[in-house]
Parts: sequence; structure tokens; C-alpha cells
Amino acid sequence: MVPMNTRWIRAVVVACSTLLAVLAWADEGPGCLDCHTADADIPVHDVFSSVHGNLLGGGAAACTACHGASEAHDRRGRRNPPDVSFGPTWLSDLEARNGACQDCHTADKQLLWLGSEHEQENLACADCHTSHTRHDPAMSTELAGDQCLTCHSRQRAQMKLPSRHPIAEGKTACTDCHNPHGSATEADLHQVTLNENCYSCHQEMRGPLLWEHEPVTEDCSTCHNPHGSVNDRLLTSRGPALCQQCHSAAFHPSLPYGAEGLPGGGSNRNLVGKNCLNCHSQVHGSNHPSGARLTR
Ligand code: HEC
Ligand code: HEC
Ligand code: HEC
Ligand code: HEC
Ligand code: HEC
Ligand code: HEC
Ligand code: HEC
Ligand code: HEC
Ligand code: HEC
Ligand code: HEC
Repeated sequence: MVPMNTRWIRAVVVACSTLLAVLAWADEGPGCLDCHTADADIPVHDVFSSVHGNLLGGGAAACTACHGASEAHDRRGRRNPPDVSFGPTWLSDLEARNGACQDCHTADKQLLWLGSEHEQENLACADCHTSHTRHDPAMSTELAGDQCLTCHSRQRAQMKLPSRHPIAEGKTACTDCHNPHGSATEADLHQVTLNENCYSCHQEMRGPLLWEHEPVTEDCSTCHNPHGSVNDRLLTSRGPALCQQCHSAAFHPSLPYGAEGLPGGGSNRNLVGKNCLNCHSQVHGSNHPSGARLTR
């Protein structure tokens, strides 16, 4: 038997909590999904089929993970922006927009975002990433490359040069070499040095070799343009000129002294128009016991 006064207390408790809930509803207003319905003019529900669909437990809570609680937004008929908005009507300041993503994404590949070239250039995460879609196009190698090229017209031109890394062909991608979120290396490379980047695919170049060629171990980009070139093999310049940036042909040991004008050397008749590589074929270094001159 339940005593009368307990039943009475229960009734009051139930009534009070219902009233509180109603008051709370009136205070909070409708949830995001009451207005942003699945068939609303602006479609946003694809977010639920994306990796972000279950943020903070899913449902309207997921919306607030990126857009904030947005309590002032559209309450009692007054149109106010959500706490964080990415447009098209209201654009929160860049810090707020990127902060919304960086609330969760500050580790791993995003670790060096702050201070990166793209951050310094005021890019937003949402310039590259699309949230209201099942598959973010930035996560597709091919589509991401297209995105990069909308801003990087120089690389777009280089990709079409006669000698090029097979980016357009889909065998290499911008993001194989670059981390668009920044890195500790120059040019946002994934690896700790530029050469390490090249070795990651061209392992045979890593060495160590018996006879090394200094510029090769130092910086591949001295002679190669990573994106594309008018010269064969991505070379920054052609033939003897490439080598003669550092080596004077005038003093080549195989020259007779005073052959043509210049004392102690002369313009090199044997070499003009000839490629140094005809003899020094092992330009990346040699493992041959007598390869000191990179000729074998
Ligand atoms: C009472 C209805 C209503 C509720 C509740 C509501 N919204 Fe909106 N929201 C709108 C309307 C209407 C627009 C379109 C405004 C416009 O385009 O002028 C809108 C636009 C937006 C936009 C786009 C802003 C822009 O700059 O174009 C975002 C983002 C948004 N709402 C997020 C939310 C989130 C998150 C919640 C829940 C916290 C929420 N909304 C709750 C009615 C609502
Ligand atoms: C992962 C973060 C994230 C989540 C979660 C999220 N949004 Fe968004 N929202 C964005 C970004 C970023 C944009 C800018 C366009 C884009 O990237 O798709 C945007 C755009 C919008 C727009 C404007 C769309 C347009 O095309 O005009 C509305 C409205 C909106 N969000 C509402 C919501 C609602 C409602 C939810 C919950 C169902 C939600 N958002 C969940 C990040 C998010
Ligand atoms: C509340 C935490 C949270 C917020 C806020 C958030 N994310 Fe995420 N995001 C996640 C989680 C969890 C995953 C899935 C697990 C993972 O890959 O780390 C994820 C995955 C991703 C991925 C990988 C997508 C894929 O298909 O694998 C991208 C890209 C991404 N988020 C971008 C964004 C952007 C851009 C924003 C801001 C508009 C944002 N995130 C806001 C938690 C968050
Ligand atoms: C210049 C374009 C660009 C910008 C700006 C950008 N991203 Fe990305 N993001 C990408 C591309 C491309 C990928 C996929 C390739 C990769 O992972 O390197 C990616 C991958 C991701 C991933 C999934 C991979 C991972 O790290 O787990 C997350 C999460 C992410 N981005 C979050 C962010 C956040 C947060 C911001 C802003 C602080 C941001 N991105 C800014 C292009 C961009
Ligand atoms: C919205 C425009 C935009 C997009 C999209 C974009 N970038 Fe950039 N990026 C810039 C600007 C601006 C700079 C600075 C000026 C410059 O070097 O061209 C820059 C600089 C860079 C740099 C040089 C970094 C440094 O430290 O010197 C690299 C590498 C780069 N971007 C790669 C990428 C890749 C890879 C993508 C695609 C995933 C991409 N960018 C997409 C605008 C963009
Ligand atoms: C095989 C590796 C590799 C690939 C693939 C690659 N890059 Fe690079 N990129 C580099 C290296 C190495 C540097 C730095 C050396 C230099 O500047 O010559 C660089 C420099 C850059 C720079 C800054 C210097 C400049 O010229 O402004 C930008 C921007 C850039 N890359 C964008 C891209 C874009 C966009 C793609 C895709 C279309 C891409 N890269 C593909 C290796 C690569
Ligand atoms: C992600 C992998 C990858 C990275 C990193 C990479 N390469 Fe390549 N490289 C390739 C592929 C694939 C080819 C084409 C090979 C083929 O078609 O047989 C290639 C071809 C080349 C060629 C020959 C081009 C021609 O016209 O025959 C040169 C030179 C070259 N790479 C230099 C470099 C340099 C220098 C670096 C570092 C800045 C580098 N690569 C980084 C994948 C890579
Ligand atoms: C001193 C200039 C120079 C430097 C520095 C240099 N290379 Fe080369 N590389 C060349 C020349 C010249 C060729 C063309 C060789 C030929 O046609 O026989 C070449 C060709 C290549 C090729 C095409 C395949 C082959 O073996 O002919 C690849 C790949 C390559 N280099 C990668 C690299 C990498 C990786 C580095 C840095 C570790 C590097 N190069 C540094 C001058 C250089
Ligand atoms: C960026 C400057 C630079 C470029 C470009 C360059 N070299 Fe070198 N090369 C050096 C340096 C530095 C040494 C080491 C000299 C030493 O040890 O005294 C060297 C050494 C050599 C040697 C061995 C000489 C010796 O005394 O052991 C040969 C042969 C050689 N280079 C040929 C070439 C050829 C061929 C090219 C063009 C494909 C070339 N170099 C391009 C800087 C360069
Ligand atoms: C016809 C073949 C041939 C051609 C072409 C050639 N070399 Fe040589 N080079 C040699 C031989 C052989 C030696 C070794 C001579 C010796 O050990 O006394 C040598 C030595 C060198 C040395 C080492 C010099 C030293 O003091 O030890 C350098 C550097 C060099 N060549 C650079 C070049 C450059 C740069 C070119 C192109 C402009 C070039 N060579 C073209 C055959 C050639």
C-alpha cells in the first residue's frame, strides 16, 4: 500500500518536471533540426552520413560541434547569425571559423597549421574542406589536386611542360609531397628535408655511395625542378650550362693550356655543345672503385 502523501508528492514532482521541461523548451527555443529539416531548402543533412555525423552524440548536438550552441540564432523570429558561420549569409571571422575545426584537429597532420604558409595567407580550413557532404572532396587525391591548382597557377603550367612528375597522369599527387597544413620543412614538405622527400620514392638515389657528388647529397632541386621543366629529366637547365654553374670548363684538366685566348685555359673547343654527361655519366655519384670523376 502506498501512503497518500507519497502519491501526492509524486504527482507534484511529475507536474513540476513537465513544467520545467516546457519552460526549458521555451527558453532554449527549437533545436537546429526543427528548422534545418531534411527537406529544407538549404540541404545540410548529408553531414550525418559523413565522419562528423556523430559528433557530441549526433543529432542537433553534432551541428553545435562546429557552429556553436548558437543560442541567439533565429530565436523568437529575430534573425541572428549562428555562433560560428561559414556563409553564405554570415561569415564569422577567420579565427572563429578555423577555431571551430581546431577545437578537435590540432594533432598529427594539423600540428603545424599555426604559422604555416597557408595559415599566414589567411586560408580557411573550409576553403579546402567541405563538411556538408558524404565524401569531402579534399580527401580524394585527384579532386584535392584540382583544388590546389585553382590557386597555384604556376604549378598548373609546370605540370604541362614536356618533362614533368606524372601528376596529371595520377602517378604522383601534390599531397604525396606536400602537407597543405604546414610542416617543419621548406615548402610544406612531408619529409624533414627536401632530399628525404625525393628518396621516399627514388630510393636508389639515397646512397651512401663510394664517390658522392656534393650538390646531389645537398639538394636535388639544385638541378631538378620538382614539378616540371622544359628540359629533359626535370632539369633546371640543360647540357653543360647546368654543370658550369659550378664547374669552370675553362680549367677542365683535359684542355691544352692557352688553346684559345684565355691564359691557362681557353674556351673549351672539346666541350662546347657537348654534354659533360657523355663522360661524367654518374652525375648522382658512383660506386665504382675508380669512379672518383663520376665517369663510371
Ligand atoms: C527557428 C528556426 C531555426 C533554428 C532553430 C536554427 N536555425 Fe539555422 N537558420 C535558420 C534560417 C531561416 C536560416 C537561413 C538564414 C538566411 O539565409 O538568411 C538559417 C541559417 C543557418 C546557417 C547558415 C548561416 C549563413 O551564414 O548562411 C547555419 C550555419 C545555421 N543556420 C546553423 C544552425 C544551427 C547550428 C542551429 C542549432 C544550434 C540552427 N541553425 C537552428 C533557421 C533556424
Ligand atoms: C564538421 C563541422 C560541421 C558540422 C558538424 C555541421 N556543419 Fe554546417 N557547415 C560547416 C561548414 C564548414 C560549412 C560551410 C560549407 C561546407 O563546408 O559544406 C557549413 C555550412 C552550413 C550551412 C550553410 C549551407 C549553405 O549551403 O548555405 C548551414 C545551414 C549549416 N551548415 C547548418 C548545419 C546544421 C543544421 C548542422 C547539423 C545538422 C551542421 N551544419 C553541422 C561545418 C559543419
Ligand atoms: C568535435 C570534434 C570535431 C570538430 C569540431 C571537427 N571535427 Fe573533423 N573529425 C572529427 C573526428 C572524430 C573525425 C574522424 C576521426 C578522425 O579521422 O580523426 C574527423 C575527421 C575529419 C576529416 C577526415 C575526413 C575523412 O573522410 O576521413 C576531415 C577532413 C575533418 N575532420 C575536417 C574538419 C573540419 C574542416 C572541421 C571544421 C569545419 C572539423 N573537421 C571539425 C572531429 C571533429
Ligand atoms: C590548402 C587546402 C587545405 C587546407 C587549407 C586545409 N586542409 Fe585539411 N586536408 C587537405 C587535403 C588535401 C587533405 C587530404 C590529404 C592529406 O591528408 O594530406 C586534408 C586532410 C585533412 C584531415 C584528415 C587527415 C588527417 O590529418 O587525419 C583533417 C582532419 C584535416 N585535413 C583538417 C583540416 C583543418 C582542421 C584545417 C584548418 C586548420 C585544414 N584541414 C586546412 C587540404 C587542406
Ligand atoms: C585558396 C587558395 C589556395 C589553395 C586552394 C591552395 N593554396 Fe597553397 N598557397 C596559397 C597561397 C596564397 C600561398 C602563398 C603564396 C605562394 O607560395 O604561392 C600558398 C603556398 C603554398 C606552398 C608553399 C609553402 C611554403 O612554405 O613556401 C605550398 C607547398 C602549397 N601552397 C601547396 C598547396 C597544396 C598542395 C594545395 C592543395 C592541397 C594548396 N596549396 C591549395 C593558396 C592556396
Ligand atoms: C614530387 C614531389 C612534389 C610534388 C608531386 C609536388 N610538389 Fe610542390 N614542391 C616540391 C618541392 C621539393 C618544392 C620545393 C622546391 C622548389 O621550390 O623548387 C615544392 C614547392 C612548391 C611550392 C612553393 C614554391 C613555389 O614554386 O611557389 C608550391 C606552391 C607547390 N610546390 C605546389 C605544388 C602543387 C600545387 C602540387 C600539385 C599540382 C605540387 N606542388 C606537387 C615537391 C613536389
Ligand atoms: C611520390 C613519389 C615521388 C616523389 C616523392 C618524387 N618522385 Fe620523382 N618520380 C616519381 C615518378 C612516379 C616518376 C616517373 C617515373 C616513370 O615514369 O618511370 C618520377 C620521375 C622523376 C624524374 C625523371 C623525369 C623524366 O622526365 O624522366 C626525375 C628527374 C625525378 N623524378 C626527380 C625527383 C626529385 C628531384 C624528387 C624530390 C624533389 C622526386 N623526384 C620526388 C615519383 C616521385
Ligand atoms: C648536379 C645536378 C644534379 C643533382 C644535384 C641531382 N641530379 Fe638527378 N639528374 C641529373 C642529370 C643531369 C640527369 C639526367 C641523366 C641522364 O640523362 O643520363 C638526372 C636524372 C635524374 C633522374 C632520372 C633517372 C636517371 O637516373 O637518369 C632521377 C630520378 C633523378 N635525377 C633524381 C635525382 C634525385 C633524387 C636527386 C637528389 C638526391 C638528384 N637527382 C640530384 C642531375 C642532377
Ligand atoms: C651546385 C654546384 C654544382 C653543380 C651544378 C655541379 N657540380 Fe659537380 N661538383 C660540385 C662540387 C662542390 C664538387 C666537389 C668538388 C671537390 O670535392 O673538390 C663536385 C664534383 C664533381 C666531380 C668530381 C670532381 C672531383 O674533383 O672529384 C665531377 C666529375 C663533377 N662534379 C661533374 C659535374 C657535372 C658533370 C655536372 C653537371 C651535370 C656537375 N658536376 C654539376 C658542385 C657542382
Ligand atoms: C670527353 C670526356 C669529357 C667531357 C665531355 C667532360 N669531361 Fe670532365 N673530365 C674528364 C676526364 C677524363 C677527367 C679526369 C681527368 C683527370 O683525372 O685528370 C675529367 C675531370 C673533370 C673534373 C675534375 C677536375 C679536377 O680538378 O679533378 C671535373 C670537375 C670535370 N671533369 C667537370 C666536367 C664538366 C663540368 C664538363 C662539361 C662542361 C666535363 N667535365 C666534360 C672527361 C670529360
